Order: sequence, then structure tokens, then C-alpha cells
Amino acid sequence: MILAANFKANKTRQETQAYMAVVESFVSANDISDTVIVFPPFTALEHISRNVLIGVQNGYPVQNGAYTGEIALEQLEEFDIRTILIGHSERRHIMKESQELIAEKFRFFAEQGFIIVYCVGEPLAVRQEGEGKLMAYVEAQFEGIDLTYPDLIIAYEPVWAIGTGLTPSMEEIERVHDALRLQTTAPILYGGSVKVENAGAIMALNNVDGVLVGSAALSAHDFCEMIAEAVQLNTDKA
Ligand code: 13P
Repeated sequence: MILAANFKANKTRQETQAYMAVVESFVSANDISDTVIVFPPFTALEHISRNVLIGVQNGYPVQNGAYTGEIALEQLEEFDIRTILIGHSERRHIMKESQELIAEKFRFFAEQGFIIVYCVGEPLAVRQEGEGKLMAYVEAQFEGIDLTYPDLIIAYEPVWAIGTGLTPSMEEIERVHDALRLQTTAPILYGGSVKVENAGAIMALNNVDGVLVGSAALSAHDFCEMIAEAVQLNTDKA
């Protein structure tokens, strides 16, 4: 299983250090073999090696240059960052990132060999038009994306489920993941209002290879509980 915590614009540097101390000791004390990824804000990056993968929530697709306010490859390399989130709905909808820019980021960071967690997901109005429309919407979000990229992880995050406490039904999640599985062999995570109470059931579904968690993962304790649920499933699913 892959468990990823996306902090978004939350936590200070000091809070992130305290958080990492809890998660890292949990991972080593329990000999966790599942992949655990944390996406802190840029300001909390540190140049130390960890037993948990640290990724960034964004990056500008250049080595360096005149891109005011952006963080490029050179700055990420300074912190040995090799994992990046691309296509998150908050960047698509709030920051108005186009599919073209997203695909450019994908190409650039794929060429650099990054592990890419690539997010797709539909707004509520699209979901209400039925699963045919939903899949067509997601298909468009794959434009310019190499679904055979070996270090690709897909995250299916319905926009209306993010930060709302709402989730699709287990059957609905499974149907979308089954449909995505026909297009790629990459691991497929589910994201959107995942919490301790539903993480186990979601991870137990067919073609769900893990979770991408926002608000509920801000608690290190809760995130560790979700990791423990994944460990439990490894035995059940095997
Ligand atoms: P929530 O878990 O807060 O719904 O956020 C999900 C998300 O956007 C993770 O990337």
C-alpha cells in the first residue's frame, strides 16, 4: 500500500519536524514496508535522510530562472527531493493550472526521474452527469501524460470529496478504479475525505493501492493509524 499525507498550506517548519518525528519512529518501530510519503510545505523541507519519502506539492518545470515566486529543480535538488504531486485539483481549480502546463510539468519531472503522484478527479456537476461523463473528464486530464511512466502513481480524488467529509460509495470508488486500471498499471490511490474511520474499507477495495490524505493526515497519530490499517490489510489481502 502507498499512504501519502498532503499538508497543503498547513503546518510550520517546527510543527512539521514534530510530525515527522512521530511518523518516522512509528514506521521504524513497526518495520513498515508500505510506502509512506509526506508532502509538507516548501518552507519545511530539510536536508536529512528519512525513512519516509518526502515530496513536494508543486514545482516549476525548469532548472532555474526568472520565474518569480516559483520553486524549480535546482532548489528541489538541494533537498534531495525526488517525489512530486502534479495535477492536484486545488492547483487546477484555484491556481487555474491548465492541462497544458500540467502536462509540461509531468514531462519535465518525468525526464528527471521523479516519482510523480498524478491527480485526477471530477467536479460534482460532472459526477451527476453519470460515470460515462466522469471517465471522459478524467480521460481529458490524462492528455499529454505518459501512463506507462514507471515511477507514476495515480491519485483519483473527486473534487467534491476533497475537504468536504463526503465520499463516493465504496462501489463507486471501486468502479472508477477498475476503469482506471484498464488504462494503466501504475498504483492508483484514492483521495478525498479519507480518515481513520474509512481508510481501511477504502484500501480493501479492488484496484485501490493506497490513499492520499489531506486534513485527516494533519494529525500524525491519525496518519499512523491509517498506516497500521494498511499493514493489517497486507495480511488480509495476501
Ligand atoms: P482531504 O483529505 O482533506 O479531503 O484532502 C484530500 C486531498 O486533496 C489530498 O490531496
